[in-house]
Amino acid sequence: MTGPNPNAECAINLDRAAPTPIGEQIFASLKGAILSGVLASGDRLPSGRDLAVQLGVARGTVRAAYDRLVDESLIFGAGSAGMRVCSEIPTSSIIPTPAMPPPNRPLLPFGRPQSGGVLPFQMGVPSQTDFPAKTWHRLMANAARADRSFSQVYGDPQGEQELRVQIAAHLAVSRQLRCHPDQVVVTSGYRQGLALALTALQVTGAEAWIEDPGYPLGRRAMELAGLCVVPIPVDSEGICVAEGIRKAPDAKIALVTPGQQAPLGVCLSPARRLALTDWAAGRDAWVIEDDYLSELQLDGRAAPALASGPDADRVIHIGSFSKTMSPVIGVGFVVCPPLLATRFIEVASTLSPAPSQTIQRALAEFMSGGHYLRHLRKMKALYTFQRSIAIEGLTELPATIETSGLALKIPLLDHADDKRLALRARELGIAPVPLSAWYASPSNATPGLLASITNIRADNCETACRELNELLNALLKQ
Ligand SMILES: Cc1ncc(COP(=O)(O)O)c(C=O)c1O
Repeated sequence: MTGPNPNAECAINLDRAAPTPIGEQIFASLKGAILSGVLASGDRLPSGRDLAVQLGVARGTVRAAYDRLVDESLIFGAGSAGMRVCSEIPTSSIIPTPAMPPPNRPLLPFGRPQSGGVLPFQMGVPSQTDFPAKTWHRLMANAARADRSFSQVYGDPQGEQELRVQIAAHLAVSRQLRCHPDQVVVTSGYRQGLALALTALQVTGAEAWIEDPGYPLGRRAMELAGLCVVPIPVDSEGICVAEGIRKAPDAKIALVTPGQQAPLGVCLSPARRLALTDWAAGRDAWVIEDDYLSELQLDGRAAPALASGPDADRVIHIGSFSKTMSPVIGVGFVVCPPLLATRFIEVASTLSPAPSQTIQRALAEFMSGGHYLRHLRKMKALYTFQRSIAIEGLTELPATIETSGLALKIPLLDHADDKRLALRARELGIAPVPLSAWYASPSNATPGLLASITNIRADNCETACRELNELLNALLKQ
C-alpha cells in the first residue's frame, strides 16, 4: 500500500498573520491541490495526527478541515488506508483552467519530445538498444545510496569536482584539449551551456555568425539572446570565414560545429580554423564551439577540438553527453577560457547551477571506471556497421548518398519539396528530416533528406530502407 502523497503537506501554505482562520486555510489549500490535480484521485492524505504535528496546529483543526473535504465529496475515509482523494470530483467544484493561445512550435522536430517511440532514420537520438543500462543503473543506485552519507547541502554550482576532473582528463585524451578542471562548468547539456555562454559574454545586440545550414535551435537561441544573426555559408571546408569577415567583420560571436558540421558533416579545415581564431583574436570576438558529437567520428580519428589550437583563449568549447551517452542523463559541460572562468562560475551560481549531484557522481564513476571509453568504442563500431547496412539497403535510391556525422544525406532535385516528403515518410513509419529546415533562409536552401543511422538495426533495416527507396522512387516518377 502506498504512503501519503507528500504533495499534500507541500500544498498547505499557512499564514498565521492572516485574518483567515487556520482551519479554513488548510481546507482551502487541500481543496485547491485536489482540483488542480496536484493531488490525484486515490492519493492518500497524511493522518490527521501527522499533519497536525507537521503544521503545528491542533488535531481537531485538521480533523475539521478533513470533514469539510468529505462533505464536499473531495475525499473519503478508506478505513485503515486513511483518507483518500475521491475518484470522481463533482464538476461544480472544478476550477476552469485558463485559456491558452494555440501553441506555435515551428521548431517542433528539433527540441520537443515526439509522441510514440523512436522511428528508423530519426535524427538527434542515440541508439535506443545499446545504452549501458545495467552499469549505469548500478552506478546511479550507488550514487543515490551515497547521498545519505553526504550532507544535505547545495552542490557546487560549477559542477562536482570529481566530474570536472574526469571531463578534463577525457578531453585531453579524446579531443586533445588540455584544460584545468576549474575551467569546466557542468551543465544539463549543450543548450544550457550555450545559455550560460551567451549570458556570461553579455553580447546582446551584437552580430553573431551562424553556419548556414546550421542547427536550427542554435540559430533561434541566438535570436532569443538578442543577437543579430548573420548566416554564413558552409562549403566542403566548413564555415566560409572570409565570407563571415566580408558580411559582418565586427560580429562578437561565431557559433560553429568544427568537428562535424551539423548537418553537412564536414570538418573545419586547418586553414579555416586558423582564419576563424585569428579573426576572433583580432576583433575581440568569441567562437563558440558546439562539439555535440565529440569523438563520435565514424571515419578515422576525430579532429582535435578547435579549443585545443592556437588562440584557444577566444574559444568557448561546449560538450554534451546527449549523443555519446543519452539525452536522458541530461549532462553537458562548457570549457571556458581561464580569463572568463570567474564570470562563467558567477553565472552558473546565480542563474544555471549544475544538474543533480547524484547523476554527476554516477557519471564521474562511469568515466573513472573506464566504462565511458569502452561505451564510445562500442558505439563507434556499432554505428559504423549500422551505417554500412543502411547504405547497402538504400542502393536503389535515385540519389547519391553522402555520409554526414551519424546520418546519411540524401540530396534531392532542386524543385523537390523535402518538407512534404518528410511528412509522408512519417506516415510510413520512418523519420528522415528535411535538409531545407536547417537553412536560415528558405531561398538558399538545398532540398534533401537527413536520415540518422543510429537506430537502423539488422531487424528493421530492410523495411525502413524499402520504404525510403519506394518513397523517393515514387517522387521521381511524378
Ligand atoms: C548540432 C547540435 N548541437 C547540439 C545539440 C543538442 O545537445 P543537447 O541535447 O546536449 O542540448 C544537438 C542535438 O541534436 C545538435 O544536433
